[in-house]
Amino acid sequence: MQLTSHDHTIFELIEAIRTKRKAQNEVIALVDYGAGDPEATRSHEEMYQGVPKETTIAQLSSIGLKGEWAQRLYYLVQKHRPVKVLELGTCCGFSAIYMAKACRDSMIYTVEGDPNVAALAKENIEEAGCKNITQYIGRFQDVLPAILEALLQVDLAFIDGHHDKEATLHYLEMLKPYLSPKAVVVFDDISWSDGMKEAWEKICHDSFFERCVDMKKLGICFVKGEMNDMV
Ligand SMILES: C[S@@+](CC[C@H](N)C(=O)[O-])C[C@H]1O[C@@H](n2cnc3c(N)ncnc32)[C@H](O)[C@@H]1O
Repeated sequence: MQLTSHDHTIFELIEAIRTKRKAQNEVIALVDYGAGDPEATRSHEEMYQGVPKETTIAQLSSIGLKGEWAQRLYYLVQKHRPVKVLELGTCCGFSAIYMAKACRDSMIYTVEGDPNVAALAKENIEEAGCKNITQYIGRFQDVLPAILEALLQVDLAFIDGHHDKEATLHYLEMLKPYLSPKAVVVFDDISWSDGMKEAWEKICHDSFFERCVDMKKLGICFVKGEMNDMV
């Protein structure tokens, strides 16, 4: 990864927003549509209904890609210059902001199930001054077909929500017809649970991809092309 001082200035700006949020102990109510924790055994119906929770803005703001991992995603977007990026899992919007800052010509479409979390992300996105992020609110299961129909093409997908084996594989199948010839698909938390490890194992053997790079936390899959220097 070759990052400039300008890139580091951008990282500092983003992380300054996170630091400010981490000082906010205001409680926020949300519904969790994901797998829960690595040992959780939520059924598909339970995940679809969601689990109501309360947390603080500070705790929410510490979720997601940070440090080296956020910078790797930034670098990938900067090098690949995808026209359309689809992110599943906005949370507070930080990874979307990293991607939006990496390439101003990219449009980032990001999906979040919980409206209160999405509202917090909106504030962060505005504070970061990103005009190239479009937010969608809804369960992936409900909104993904219409979003894909509207986008028609996805050049980079970042799957960072739900974290359930079957759901992850299902979203990938839904995405496939829309991925452009040199698209990149990034999965977060590929070692998070046994289910996610199994999903990643299956993805690595999928002939749809030319190459899959296992970074233990992130898994990066290249549909076609020579982009070996991007990770
Ligand atoms: C790990 S966080 C995303 C972190 C973010 N990408 C970052 O790095 O800054 C995952 C998010 O996905 C959302 N999510 C999980 N399962 C979902 C589902 N089935 N539909 C919609 N949103 C979901 C959660 O509410 C959560 O905010």
